[in-house]
Amino acid sequence: MHSLALKFLPAASISADKFEAFFSVFLVIGVSLFVGTLGVTFYWAFKYKRKREGEPTPYIPHNFLVEFVSVFFIALWAASFFIWGWNDYVYFIEPKPNEYEINVMGQQWSWQIQYANGKNLVNELYVPRGQPVRLVLGSKDVLHSFFIPEFRIKQDAVPGQYTSLRFTATKTGEFNIFCAEFCGTAHSKMIGKVFVLEPEDFKLWLAGANVIKPEGAGAMLTMADQGARLFNTKSCNTCHTVDGTKLMGPSLKGVFGAIRPLNSGEQAVADENYLRESMMDPMKKIVKDFPPVMPTFRGILTDDETNQLVAYIKSLK
Ligand code: CUA
Repeated sequence: MHSLALKFLPAASISADKFEAFFSVFLVIGVSLFVGTLGVTFYWAFKYKRKREGEPTPYIPHNFLVEFVSVFFIALWAASFFIWGWNDYVYFIEPKPNEYEINVMGQQWSWQIQYANGKNLVNELYVPRGQPVRLVLGSKDVLHSFFIPEFRIKQDAVPGQYTSLRFTATKTGEFNIFCAEFCGTAHSKMIGKVFVLEPEDFKLWLAGANVIKPEGAGAMLTMADQGARLFNTKSCNTCHTVDGTKLMGPSLKGVFGAIRPLNSGEQAVADENYLRESMMDPMKKIVKDFPPVMPTFRGILTDDETNQLVAYIKSLK
């Protein structure tokens, strides 16, 4: 049963193993009761069907022993699942020794991840394998929900309030982050990745080696290629396309060098400085007919990354 569940969705945290165990047993008992109840219902329905018109209905009184035993076992079942579930719940939420804390801020429509040493990422969460982690969740605007299916954990991110999400990853690799609370137009694109690294690799990564990923670093890429990668990992693609389609924000196709009409009635030439300003101070120049919703990427994109993104946008002819 356990391995069957693993086939559908990998279990990559202690919580996930606990959840799988509980769910598997619950599923087996639930399905058995369902099949059993329907089975005897049909069996008796046919067995006691009247054989001829006018056959008298037999008088069958209740059976104390049967009723007592069935109620007793159902009560026992419910109570044991409550105790089991309660223990797991306490495990999920209780503080662990040596917890590694990471701040996660939700906003329409991305996750900002902040480490104590000042490292900032968007939609990418790096964690060490085997060490308990506590995410301190918040939101800048509306309700979001931070969901890692492979870890079987989920927690609301609430504006004006901190919530905690705890887990201990058990497998290295790449796992999904979803937003599980409808939060507006691009809710379905509020997607990220968890990278679980061996503790030594995590230390290296934290100390500055920015490119370690479980599958290994990429080959030499041009600046524009690196920008294209950032365009996805920093979730620019949530609001901007590169093929001329309008989303929440303008498409970036053919933007470089173009004259942009602004909401203020003025115009601006989309040169390098304009692109950079639009990433760092997005509220300064809003393109005509678009809402002022873009978050700032100051402190999130390094100068190198900004250069790469600008190179990418230049390449979108
Ligand atoms: Cu954030 Cu849905």
